This record gives sequence, C-alpha cells and structure tokens, in this order.
Amino acid sequence: MSLVPLPESLVPFLDPYLPKPINEKRPFVTLTYAQSLDSRIAAQSGVQTKLSHLETKTMTHYLRSKHDAILVGINTVLADDPKLNCRYDGGSGGQIKIRPIVLDPLHKWQYSESNLRKICDAGQGLAPYILVDESVKDVEQPVLLSQGGKVVKLPLLKNRANNWHMIFDKLYEMDIESVMVEGGACVINDLLGGCGPVDSVIVTVAPVFLGENGVQVSPKTGVSLTDVSWWTGIQDSVLCARL
Ligand SMILES: NC(=O)c1ccc[n+]([C@@H]2O[C@H](COP(=O)([O-])OP(=O)(O)OC[C@H]3O[C@@H](n4cnc5c(N)ncnc54)[C@H](OP(=O)(O)O)[C@@H]3O)[C@@H](O)[C@H]2O)c1
Repeated sequence: MSLVPLPESLVPFLDPYLPKPINEKRPFVTLTYAQSLDSRIAAQSGVQTKLSHLETKTMTHYLRSKHDAILVGINTVLADDPKLNCRYDGGSGGQIKIRPIVLDPLHKWQYSESNLRKICDAGQGLAPYILVDESVKDVEQPVLLSQGGKVVKLPLLKNRANNWHMIFDKLYEMDIESVMVEGGACVINDLLGGCGPVDSVIVTVAPVFLGENGVQVSPKTGVSLTDVSWWTGIQDSVLCARL
C-alpha cells in the first residue's frame, strides 16, 4: 500500500531530532514507537495493533529514510512479521534502503519464511543482521547470507542487563552510523531506563486506550524528558524529546 503524503510541517518539527554526527564511536540512536493514551504499544502480547494514523505512518517511513538501520526485539518480529523497509522516497521514485537489525539471542526466528524475506526477494529492502547469543549453534541461513544479511554472534546473555553499549558498538563496527530503535516494550523499557545511549525520543500518541491487557511501556524507574516539542496532526500527536 502506498503512503499518504508527509505533512509538510513535520519536516522542520523533526529536523532537530534527526541523526547528526556525534563525537563517539557508536551510532546515533533514535528511540521511536507509537503508544496509546494508557502507554500501551499493543492490545495484547503477541498481537499486532495498528495505532498510528496514516500520516504518522508516513512519518515513520520518513524517519527510516534518515537512518542506516532499524532495530527491533524478537517478540516484535514474531508478533508482527514486519517488513522493516522504507517506503518513503521523498518524491525521488528511488528506493531508500535501511538495514533491519533483529535482536534474537536464542535464534527463534526463521528468516526464510518471513515477510522480510519476501521484501528482500522483491528488491524492496535489505536482508537483516540477526544478533544472536554467542552460545547459539546451527545458525546456517544460506538464503540470508546470499542476500547480504548476517547472523552476528555476541555475548548477549552473559550480561543481559547491561549489553546495550556492546550492541551499539558492534553496529558501529559494521558501518551503521544511525539506528532507529522501534520496539517492542522490552527494548523500549531498557533504553528509556538508561541501559543504553539514546539521542532522540520520538513517540506517536494515538487517541485510544488499549486497556490493562495491553503491552505496556513503563521503564523500571521514572524518567524526565528534556528539549520537548509536540506536533499535532489529524488524529495523533507526536512528542520529540531527549532523555
Ligand atoms: N506500537 C509500536 O510502536 C510497536 C513497535 C514495536 C513493537 N510493538 C509491539 O510490541 C510487542 C512486543 O514487545 P515485547 O516487549 O514483547 O518484545 P520485544 O521488545 O520486541 O522483544 C523482546 C525480546 O528481545 C530480546 N531482547 C530484548 N532486549 C534484549 C537485550 N538487551 N539482550 C538480549 N536480548 C534482548 C529478548 O529475547 P529472548 O526472550 O529470546 O531472550 C526479549 O525477550 C508486540 O506485540 C509488537 O506488536 C509495538
């Protein structure tokens, strides 16, 4: 499905929060997701839930066009079977490629049967880099490799509570200079809670309550945001800020 046009006012609104060169050997990290008024990002665990209006969906693809990679946790991939490509072309008619990164320590995901593979087969996106724990065996994925994807082994489970710096350092080593972290809740809560670097936070707020069975974003301890700006569209509002 093609995207609706990007609201023009979003361009100057988002600009200060887009990736810029940083004086560190790690990627610029943007944390971005859509939530309900009761801070839920899905109606139930494992259930894909559409929250964004079409114009903020276009915004997500615009943001993707400004990053080298998108990172998601394995539960998001298993629940949503997402395409994780960029369908915003800025009117150029060309395809902007962004690298999907899947954090799958126990190697639960089969790329060969996924929507992401179909997108890659159709030349509409890049094959993912799958981050697995160093202890995982049998990671052969010939299709993935032939399409330019990789299985990357890291000591993810040894220091599960404090491995985000290592993850981002590894991405930087693989020439990824900006990464858009899109979820799910486990990943978002870690990063909001200070377990890793975050340079920008961009949250779409949809006018809906998903209820107490929803997947909740709520970091372990309270966090205040700074440098806050709000944009309001037809239905959703967007918060841009820094941690
Ligand atoms: N509204 C939105 O913007 C949005 C965006 C994305 C996703 N979602 C929703 O979010 C839900 C999924 O969220 P979720 O919290 O269940 O899962 P998740 O964050 O997608 O994935 C969590 C899993 O990723 C792995 N992981 C995360 N952080 C890790 C770390 N630091 N080190 C090693 N492994 C790590 C672990 O896998 P193991 O358990 O295998 O160790 C963990 O259980 C889905 O329903 C999806 O639809 C919504």
